[in-house]
Amino acid sequence: MTHDMIEQAKAVLRRNDRGTYTVPTHGLYPFQWNWDSALSALGFAHFDEARAWTEIETLFAHQWDDGMVPHIIFHELDDGYFPGPDVWATARPVSTSGITQPPVAGFAVRRIFGRATDKALAAEKARALLPRIHAWHQWFFANRDPQGTGLVAIIHPWESGRDNSVDWDAAFERVPTEGVEPFTRRDTSHANPEHRPTDEQYKRYIWLVQKFRSLGWDNSELHDASPFRIVDPGFNAILIRSCVDLADLATALGETRIAAQSQAMADKAIVAMDTLWSDKRGQYVCYDRAIGALIDSPSIGGILAAFAPIPQARAKAISARIDALSQNCNYLVPSHDPTVPEFDALRYWRGPIWLIVNYMISDGLERCGETVMADRINADCLRLIEKSGFAEYYGPMGAEPCGGDQFTWTAAMVIEILKSHEIAA
Ligand code: GLC
Repeated sequence: MTHDMIEQAKAVLRRNDRGTYTVPTHGLYPFQWNWDSALSALGFAHFDEARAWTEIETLFAHQWDDGMVPHIIFHELDDGYFPGPDVWATARPVSTSGITQPPVAGFAVRRIFGRATDKALAAEKARALLPRIHAWHQWFFANRDPQGTGLVAIIHPWESGRDNSVDWDAAFERVPTEGVEPFTRRDTSHANPEHRPTDEQYKRYIWLVQKFRSLGWDNSELHDASPFRIVDPGFNAILIRSCVDLADLATALGETRIAAQSQAMADKAIVAMDTLWSDKRGQYVCYDRAIGALIDSPSIGGILAAFAPIPQARAKAISARIDALSQNCNYLVPSHDPTVPEFDALRYWRGPIWLIVNYMISDGLERCGETVMADRINADCLRLIEKSGFAEYYGPMGAEPCGGDQFTWTAAMVIEILKSHEIAA
């Protein structure tokens, strides 16, 4: 059973493997995505360590000179996706988008390094990646936290990885739709439009792209120029965890300067993170930096915060919060609270379950000693796969498979969950 599931998951990874990078799924997403790649490498590492390293190396080969690692790399032309390279117009040797995505690579590299059987290869690859990942982390604090608060903002919903979360709704009202060049969406021809963002949201996504493009993608200007500046606890948790893990890796490799700088960034951010705690919701919430107010929206972003080394009491409260969510759905963890009117069971990040997020929450809770909840979440991941295959995301009531199918990072998470428990046992 377990063996079959792992073999099926490997077949998904192989199917989406383009040699030096993996596409998230055929059709809907025909390029390399940033956090998809880092998380997918975790799956590869269980059966082909060299291939796992290549995945991350390819991603960092397209790092910008200022340190940013873009959210999409358009390795080959494919007009089945919008917005393509012509819309981004980032003037890179190989086209990329102009925004970033959750920086989970530091975590992934640390984990792959720690488990590697080919230690020499791992040391060589990790040593080469270390300064690049560190430069990306420093880029975040320099460009996305210009006031030095300790936490970074996203300037486009796509950066969060949670594209159409309810969290962005109010702030998104401030993003205009006038002046958006006419376009044709491609996502809705590959996936059910009912499960995707609305046309109105798409216009605003593109307005922001046009705005940043008009500023020549100069990251020293984009943060302050964006009407959309949100501090997302989930995103920051990923950055913090990657800084902590990078500090650990740097120590193992004798890179003491990187170790100290990484730890210092993480320490400051962990303290600042507590300003995002909501007693009312029993979880963290986002902060709208453009207006200086917390966003009272009970989404998974504030639960994913458990991926960072948060205080024990907060982790316990988050476990309790997830338990409360489970009273109103059949599978964990829904991307939005099912009891509020904005919840939309099958629409992308407004209700459905995403295995990668489950994995990170579970991993963080386990580190904090919340093992019962961590195991429950992993068990639900496997129930979803058994029932509905390797989908992009799932309905939390009926486990409906949604979005693209044969999805790379979903398959990678299955291998990671099953194999790491084998290793731990
Ligand atoms: C969607 C998701 C994003 C992911 C991408 C590729 O845009 O919201 O998180 O990286 O698809 O899978």
